[in-house]
Amino acid sequence: MNPRLQDWRERRVWIIGASSGIGAALARELRARGAKLALSARSIDGALLARDEILAEWGGIDLVLVVAGTYQKMRADDFDLTAAKQLVETNLNGTLNCLDAVLPTLLAQGHGGIGIVASVAGLSGLPQALIYGPTKAALINLCESLYLDLHARGISVYLINPGFVATPLTAKNDFSMPALISAETAAHEIVRGIERGEFHIHFPRRFTNWLRVLRLLPYRLYFWLIHKVTGL
Ligand SMILES: NC(=O)c1ccc[n+]([C@@H]2O[C@H](COP(=O)([O-])OP(=O)(O)OC[C@H]3O[C@@H](n4cnc5c(N)ncnc54)[C@H](OP(=O)(O)O)[C@@H]3O)[C@@H](O)[C@H]2O)c1
Repeated sequence: MNPRLQDWRERRVWIIGASSGIGAALARELRARGAKLALSARSIDGALLARDEILAEWGGIDLVLVVAGTYQKMRADDFDLTAAKQLVETNLNGTLNCLDAVLPTLLAQGHGGIGIVASVAGLSGLPQALIYGPTKAALINLCESLYLDLHARGISVYLINPGFVATPLTAKNDFSMPALISAETAAHEIVRGIERGEFHIHFPRRFTNWLRVLRLLPYRLYFWLIHKVTGL
């Protein structure tokens, strides 16, 4: 659905949210493949918006990967408006800030790509993800619309939906995470998906394919199964 990418050498890749977890592993993976990297995160350079410096240095961008995001477990009986707004601010508005920073450049170039890390938690409603889930559902919808708008303009769009990945973000989870993979495996899957030109890059498939099927079920069956499997 996107052009295949064979050779990462000298590709100019900007990773936003590269200080830990999946973003940091992606940086290591792409560095090993010879890509030119710009890495952003609050704890790396103190500010997310470094576009002008990157453009001045590189003169263009081949790929932007928006990885930054945060998670807080929430259910209806512990709804916290401040925390909810913080999740929306980081996961959704943060991504919109990134789009604002890079879309004019990508459109003017008429080539390059943008990948956004959402989550399988955005595929359908799940317990403990009362607000995290909707922020990721919005990103999934956003990527679909971006693809429709940008594909014909020569710009690749990648929707990245990980299952459970062992990172600082999931370290605080107090439940057993099915099909948990390492950040290195996640980075490898993302790079492989981009190389193959996939739009929907999701992994590990033994877990994500189940969730993709579940979302197609009638709600009565879906709610019953989720309740049965999670006990929540
Ligand atoms: N781990 C999983 O199981 C899993 C599953 C599905 C989707 N995801 C998604 O994958 C992405 C990466 O998560 P991760 O698991 O690798 O977690 P992580 O290790 O906590 O990394 C999160 C990254 O986002 C940045 N970030 C966090 N809050 C931010 C904020 N308010 N403003 C700007 N940057 C912020 C962090 O950098 P600074 O704190 O230095 O800014 C860090 O680089 C997230 O979007 C997450 O929702 C993770």
